[in-house]
Amino acid sequence: MKLAIIGAGNVGGALGANWAQKGHDVFFGVRDPKAEKTQALLKKIGHKARAGSAAEVAASADVILLSTPWPATEAAIRSMGDNIKGKIILDAVNPLTRGPDGIALEIGHSISAGEKVQGWAAGASVFKTLNTTGFSNMANPVFNGVKSVMFVAGDDVANKPKVINLVGDLGFEVIDAGPLRNARLLEAHAMLWIDLALVRGQGRDFAFALLRR
Ligand SMILES: NC(=O)c1ccc[n+]([C@@H]2O[C@H](COP(=O)([O-])OP(=O)(O)OC[C@H]3O[C@@H](n4cnc5c(N)ncnc54)[C@H](OP(=O)(O)O)[C@@H]3O)[C@@H](O)[C@H]2O)c1
Repeated sequence: MKLAIIGAGNVGGALGANWAQKGHDVFFGVRDPKAEKTQALLKKIGHKARAGSAAEVAASADVILLSTPWPATEAAIRSMGDNIKGKIILDAVNPLTRGPDGIALEIGHSISAGEKVQGWAAGASVFKTLNTTGFSNMANPVFNGVKSVMFVAGDDVANKPKVINLVGDLGFEVIDAGPLRNARLLEAHAMLWIDLALVRGQGRDFAFALLRR
């Protein structure tokens, strides 16, 4: 598949490298395609990766991943213009801010970043996913043979199997977490991972998995 990745940072870089290894074409949408760090990422990934402006890469992609900082996300969506129309958008963004006790969610309970993204991305189909674990686990989601879990929340039932397969290609066990409004739950779940990793001493090398009887 042709994937546009908007934001070639920790998350975009890890997911782009993993998807390219699985045979997908990854186009990074960046503000400066010639930047040294972007060129280094392209070199690391190899011939399946390219970089251009967000509007260019969105135009040529089947699916767009948003991996921008929360405060930059609306502008990043607007920078793609009409090229998002009819496209699937995977939203990995957590609406983080700095509160009195450290990193916290800026919004939640009654609205989510996922729903805000859908509001800014009219004509596209937004799925909340790839936000509930750290970027190093996105590079390799398998722990001693056990797949860590990744949820997908979105309202577009017809396109959801495509999204589930694409996230599954990365190595996750993928679970349909219902409609896009459940991004409110997934963003809170992400905040739990962040708190455990960065504040409670678990570090980045852990992930959540589902156990069943
Ligand atoms: N880090 C994690 O483990 C993790 C896990 C799950 C979800 N997330 C979420 O994923 C998102 C990205 O996190 P990250 O750690 O990958 O951040 P990051 O390393 O800081 O990367 C963010 C990228 O977004 C780019 N960017 C900023 N403004 C932009 C704009 N207007 N248009 C296009 N690109 C823009 C930045 O480009 P420049 O370098 O040019 O500024 C940078 O490449 C965040 O919303 C975060 O909450 C992160």
